[in-house]
Amino acid sequence: MSNLNSIVAIAGSGAMGAGIAQVASMAGHTVMLYDTNGEVIEKALVGIASSLEKLVAKGKLAERAALDIRQRIIPASSLSEPQGASLFIEAIVEKLAVKSQLFAAVEEVLIEDAILASNTSSLSITAIASSCKKPERVIGLHFFNPAVLMPLVEVITALQTNAISPTKCLDVMRAWGKVPVLAKDTPGFIVNRVARPFYGESLRILEEGIADIATIDWALKTFGNFRMGPFELMDLIGNDVNYAVTETVWSQMYFDPRYKPSLVQKKMTEAKRLGRKSGRGYYDYREEAILLEPVKDEVLGNVIFIRVLSMLINEAVDALYLGVATKEELDLAMTKGVNYPKGLLKWADEIGLNTVLDHLNHLNQEYGEDRYRPSVLLRKMADKKEKFF
Ligand code: NAI
Repeated sequence: MSNLNSIVAIAGSGAMGAGIAQVASMAGHTVMLYDTNGEVIEKALVGIASSLEKLVAKGKLAERAALDIRQRIIPASSLSEPQGASLFIEAIVEKLAVKSQLFAAVEEVLIEDAILASNTSSLSITAIASSCKKPERVIGLHFFNPAVLMPLVEVITALQTNAISPTKCLDVMRAWGKVPVLAKDTPGFIVNRVARPFYGESLRILEEGIADIATIDWALKTFGNFRMGPFELMDLIGNDVNYAVTETVWSQMYFDPRYKPSLVQKKMTEAKRLGRKSGRGYYDYREEAILLEPVKDEVLGNVIFIRVLSMLINEAVDALYLGVATKEELDLAMTKGVNYPKGLLKWADEIGLNTVLDHLNHLNQEYGEDRYRPSVLLRKMADKKEKFF
């Protein structure tokens, strides 16, 4: 299975902690599941049981195996319990001070060569690691929601992480049936950085009155084969969550205009139109709602699609240029973490780097905004007529 011993300790039993616990137990580990709120642990165990029952009903899992998986997950009432664990995964509230305190406390009870991982979406792993006496044991393991279903896990090395932990984590994640990719500890890691223009540029198109939400969604699904349009997806993620991620990446990037949040997003959050979870977001999910119809204009649809895609590709190319991940990992991350129909660099090869560059140059000239500056790597490669693969 892996060279880690079989106990995995998880702190935080909310949506992510519960999902990760199920994945780890399904891979054969004994799991200690901890939360400051005991009721949440109980809820997590009920949720896991129901998820396993569904797998049994579908014939994907034997009843006996489901029972074993449930029995391997042990609720922990205190932080001193996970002492035998060789892998600790933190999935608690997204606050640096709270996470730092937890890491400092857990470090004291874990065995010498245990790995301490954080599932944070937006905080610096390096900052979390610095709360420990042995920061070299700290790493990021960023799962995607729902953790049981989404294959991608970003393995993030902090500045202090030792050489052995990333390799160990890659092996363990593969043993868990996941698709791990290595990412540098930079804002948004891979997916939450590279995917920003899918939302940001679509919001910009909406803000400028070029098209309405239904038309933008239609354009990206029809011409880009994206499974969901950006507004449908934002409604699913939650507009508050999406806005918070955008703001965090933008501020951590020292307010680079490429990541600037949209006022539309802010207003939606202020109005509590959070998406599906509140019954209303960009779309209206209430029973009496009137369905929005797209304007199915092919020319307009293609303009929207190529604009958003060019911005996405530019972001992926720049992430490659800045060493956030390899070209293979960048493409894998977007297909396995957010279900993109193709890796963005492969997509760039297909439509031609010069075509992408032309679109960006055109936007750059038209708006005169730094937001549309092409990555230096894109310019250099397009000039030499090179491809990524
Ligand atoms: P959640 O709110 O569902 O669960 C967090 C849990 O942590 C709560 O049950 C809370 O009682 C518990 N908690 C708070 N302080 C604690 C402490 N000091 N010790 C132990 N437990 C404590 O949150 P969710 O969505 O599961 O997110 C957890 C982490 O995973 C966050 O860092 C988030 O950024 C990250 N993440 C979330 C994703 C998502 O889509 N929800 C995706 C990937 C990562």
